[in-house]
Amino acid sequence: MAGKPITISHLNVRIGDRNILKDISVSIPPNKITAIIGPSGCGKSTMLKCMNRMIDLVEEIDIEGDVHIDGENIYGSGIDVSLLRKKVGMIAQTPNPLPMSIYDNIAYGPRIHGQRKRTDLDEIVERCLNTVGLWSEVKERLEDPAAKLSIGQQQRLCLARALAVQPEVLLCDEVTSSLDPVSAKHIETELSSLKNDYTIVFVTHILRQAKRLADYVIFLYLGELVEYGPANEVFFHPKDPRTAAYIEGVFG
Ligand SMILES: Nc1ncnc2c1ncn2[C@@H]1O[C@H](COP(=O)(O)OP(=O)(O)O)[C@@H](O)[C@H]1O
Ligand SMILES: [Mg+2]
Repeated sequence: MAGKPITISHLNVRIGDRNILKDISVSIPPNKITAIIGPSGCGKSTMLKCMNRMIDLVEEIDIEGDVHIDGENIYGSGIDVSLLRKKVGMIAQTPNPLPMSIYDNIAYGPRIHGQRKRTDLDEIVERCLNTVGLWSEVKERLEDPAAKLSIGQQQRLCLARALAVQPEVLLCDEVTSSLDPVSAKHIETELSSLKNDYTIVFVTHILRQAKRLADYVIFLYLGELVEYGPANEVFFHPKDPRTAAYIEGVFG
């Protein structure tokens, strides 16, 4: 499996009369982790939602510019948004398991996309739970409600659910912020090993986390892309004084 490149060109997002993202252009490489960093309210989640068109659900939204995933313009005519969201999975800040069993949480997506055979579903459930290190913890109670799991386990379940439909891109929005440190570490380790197979875009406002995980870094400030580059360059040789100030902890 391989991830797909994402190319964003002149992306402008307005909500009502406010410019939320201002002329963003950047190319995000496959099989790497790209972190979007910046202080709260600078547009990180909005930028992420533009990559699987979850942004369409926002009222009074006005989007200009292009987002190409693997060469295809996802804002072009004839795009099947539900197929797009299968290819571009998203994991939210707060774990949001479906109100059903552990097993059915994972099987839900594959079933919607036509997978019916129990043996195939069993195989997908075991493989995805294994990938996130949850299989040995839950294999004896797959029919239990997902809500019975700890918050950290629920977030790993949500990651497994995203993987079950074989996405090409994983969008992660502050996915460890509601977790205890041990669960957060689990998720970080899993994302690091998953990057071989996916394009991972990872929003965080925790700089140390971005330093641990990111191969590339995008620094957003007040809706503007201030700096983009390999993580080592952005963190240790920032070109823009605003990036330098943010990394030094002057604000944010
Ligand atoms: N649905 C919405 N309606 C109105 N304003 C919004 C909406 N979503 C985000 N915003 C505004 O857009 C700006 C960027 O938000 P967001 O992308 O969530 O930032 P971040 O994820 O960096 O904290 C903020 O000023 C926020 O108030
Ligand atoms: Mg956010």
